[in-house]
Amino acid sequence: MGRERAADRCATVSCMGVDWERYLAAYHGENPGITERVLRQSVHRDHGNPYRWLRAGLPPEPHVVVDAAAGNLPLRPLFADDTAYVGCDLSKSELTLAASQGRMGVVLADINRLPLADECADAALSSMGLMLAVKPQRALDELARVLRPGGTLALLLPAQWPLRPADVPRLASLIWALRGPGSMPNVVGPRRARQMIRKAGLVAPDIQRVRFRFPIASAADAELAVTALYTPGRSERQRDQAVSALERLAPDGELPVPLMRVTARKAAID
Ligand SMILES: C[S@@+](CC[C@H](N)C(=O)[O-])C[C@H]1O[C@@H](n2cnc3c(N)ncnc32)[C@H](O)[C@@H]1O
Repeated sequence: MGRERAADRCATVSCMGVDWERYLAAYHGENPGITERVLRQSVHRDHGNPYRWLRAGLPPEPHVVVDAAAGNLPLRPLFADDTAYVGCDLSKSELTLAASQGRMGVVLADINRLPLADECADAALSSMGLMLAVKPQRALDELARVLRPGGTLALLLPAQWPLRPADVPRLASLIWALRGPGSMPNVVGPRRARQMIRKAGLVAPDIQRVRFRFPIASAADAELAVTALYTPGRSERQRDQAVSALERLAPDGELPVPLMRVTARKAAID
């Protein structure tokens, strides 16, 4: 193992005291497709669900699309059938689910080291993936590397706002039950995203934030919402309390899902 990779492993292990590599492998092994189950039900009046919003940030008909940390490839159906679509993920369970759903083009690969040629893609995207990379800048550099000049990048990331006043007590009860919010290895806010885009050599960044709403109509929705959070180190009892707190919102409740979409381009060669 090279010195750089060894350093990456240390960074993974030490990040917030959580061995994220192991946690994410176990979590997605047990819960393949869970992100799609939540995001497909999360809606905004103008944008539809978050996948449709992310898709709208990319050109209408790219020939070659790279999707990094693709999970079970929920974006695949939003592109034409004849698109050359490559979905990279480290979870065999996610990729197996994708294939069983007829979403072809799965590759077992790390977002930090995409096994793809330079400048091969018209569009590169990552939906809810970049903040999971040990070093998000390296992952973004990889996405920039595989983009052809003139190609487009689109990222979907968690955000802290927009929120509505009524969201605050709902989130507070969830956070109280879990003794803290859901965790992520990295936080990528708008300012950091702009810096990273510049460092990766991409241009014309556009950053937007939207509040989607996840309806809590039943106990099953409450269970899904809590299960979909990364909660390393929390006990079963704390998770049960969080589910109970959300169950009280049913049948007409909702949870906010604030998300950030980042798009940018690789400058075309004159
Ligand atoms: C929150 S899920 C998002 C999945 C999908 N993109 C979506 O939006 O539904 C994050 C995904 O990132 C994958 N992942 C985490 N770290 C990764 C890495 N270093 N390289 C590739 N995939 C990774 C996980 O296996 C998981 O499938």
